[in-house]
Amino acid sequence: MAASPRAFVLRHTQVRPVPGLEEIRLHLADEVLPLWHAVQLESDDPDAALPYWAFAWAGGLAIGRYLGEHPEVVAGRRVYDLASGSGLCAIAAMHAGASVVTAADIDPFAAAAIELNARANGRRVAIVHRDVLDETAPEVDVVLAGDCWYEARLAQRVMPWLHNARARGIDVLVGDPGRRYLPTDELVALATYDVRTTTDLEDLDRKQGRVYALPRPVGETR
Ligand SMILES: C[S@@+](CC[C@H](N)C(=O)[O-])C[C@H]1O[C@@H](n2cnc3c(N)ncnc32)[C@H](O)[C@@H]1O
Repeated sequence: MAASPRAFVLRHTQVRPVPGLEEIRLHLADEVLPLWHAVQLESDDPDAALPYWAFAWAGGLAIGRYLGEHPEVVAGRRVYDLASGSGLCAIAAMHAGASVVTAADIDPFAAAAIELNARANGRRVAIVHRDVLDETAPEVDVVLAGDCWYEARLAQRVMPWLHNARARGIDVLVGDPGRRYLPTDELVALATYDVRTTTDLEDLDRKQGRVYALPRPVGETR
């Protein structure tokens, strides 16, 4: 990697309010393909991941809207933002009054972006930069998972991890705009939002972002 991920994020993004969540500002990009090419060159890796971290995804936007309307879900609680990307859900949780927020992502550019974005919002977010999906969920009260169902392999790994977290008493919120690999029959729909994305990423510039909960296993009473 030629320069630091932090310098790369700063060079290729602009700080802007998030559409529909204007109280949150993120380092965002407009066009995915030129940025992806720049990531491939920077990391000297033709298979480098898409720069998910430079965009607010529809699933994360829906979770952000839900937390704005229902801050009690995270207020005073320990929150874990799985597959955090830009850190959007993590920052929304801090805005809603979470006591501690941790954001996890495998992408080094995402880790840099989350740190920059938290700082741009005057927030502190702990960052875990590794693949945590073979580990048990950490000691937290709420897990947020925004837009993780866009590819089969990730979806197959995320769902058991979330079920395991739920079985251990952790509340789980999922945000998704109808991606192919989301098993909606395992979830309870809570709310739907009209969210603004971009046709550079999606087929439409507006999506229905839905927020779901993983239901409590039978017998759990909290
Ligand atoms: C579509 S983005 C969603 C980002 C954010 N949650 C949102 O809704 O805006 C998916 C994110 O999952 C991350 N990711 C993929 N595999 C992962 C894994 N095994 N562990 C943690 N994060 C992962 C990617 O790096 C990417 O940032």
